Amino acid sequence: MRPSILVTRATFSEVTDRLRQYLDVTYNPADTVWKPAQLVDRLHGKVGVMSTGSERIDVALLDACPQLKAVCNVGVGYNNVDVAACTARGVLVTNTPDVLTETTADFGFALMMATARRMTESERFVRRGEWTKTGIYDQFVGSDVHGATLGILGMGRIGQAIARRGALGFGMRVIYHNRSRLAAEHEADSRATYVDKATLLREADHLVLVLPYSKESHHTIGASELALMKPSATLTNIARGGIVDDAALAAALRSGTIAAAGLDVFEGEPTVHPDLLTVPNIVITPHIGSASVRTRHAMAQLTADNLIAALGCGPNAGRALTPVNPQVLER
Ligand code: 8YV
Repeated sequence: MRPSILVTRATFSEVTDRLRQYLDVTYNPADTVWKPAQLVDRLHGKVGVMSTGSERIDVALLDACPQLKAVCNVGVGYNNVDVAACTARGVLVTNTPDVLTETTADFGFALMMATARRMTESERFVRRGEWTKTGIYDQFVGSDVHGATLGILGMGRIGQAIARRGALGFGMRVIYHNRSRLAAEHEADSRATYVDKATLLREADHLVLVLPYSKESHHTIGASELALMKPSATLTNIARGGIVDDAALAAALRSGTIAAAGLDVFEGEPTVHPDLLTVPNIVITPHIGSASVRTRHAMAQLTADNLIAALGCGPNAGRALTPVNPQVLER
């Protein structure tokens, strides 16, 4: 009998076709976001799941699904999965690093630029029919990106790719802070200088957040951190909701503590804090950092290959390509 798996959300037909070569696939073509109890119900008898950030794979789910062997998540971030609980139960977890690095860095840089140059705020002005004369000195004047200081909080693969764009493409001075300092060769490749967090906040003209979400990074940016930033600075978050205290950010944007923000991720998304929706100096996008056609295909294919391999099938049987908890494989 072929291993049975659940694909929690709609995906590309080439991905379900590939999965069906080896596995018995239950699919969700309607793309419904299931409630926890519905998910547990559908996971009955399944040994693998192709999950996304919309599903929580937690202790309650794992206890209700003791037959589960592999959780293959579409996304480089996996804070929706309790990895420690999976490891304790011998459940392999995989993610999708590398394939989305450059696409997400493109998006982070674009969001930062749109924020600095007030692109959506001015677009709304035009759409409202308010463009009756062109103001020279006061109409949507923003801040320069070229030659400015780019601050990066969280210097993994995506952070380094953003640093390269800033340093090599826009002549920016790049400073970063990270849990651990990069090796000298990676600092040199990124043209980035390590600083402590307070220096990063004080000196960045444009601060970009690219750190993973965990209990420790919850509200890494709140009122006191925003107060350290320059009034002319921008903040861009492409990492995860919950890293920024959204209510504190909305207040800081309204009072002029910082100049503007670009947000692709929100605490409690897809719900957005109502205060953010009424602040003008903000660019808001619906968690689309990795959303290029090519990259979304690559993420889904990598997840499928991980799942097939994790369940002992296909050319990489037993050797998932990008495991998060490889210690499970060593048992
Ligand atoms: C995904 C992401 O869209 O990779 C990540 O961590 O946030 C996005 O690329 C998201 O995880 C959906 O599963």
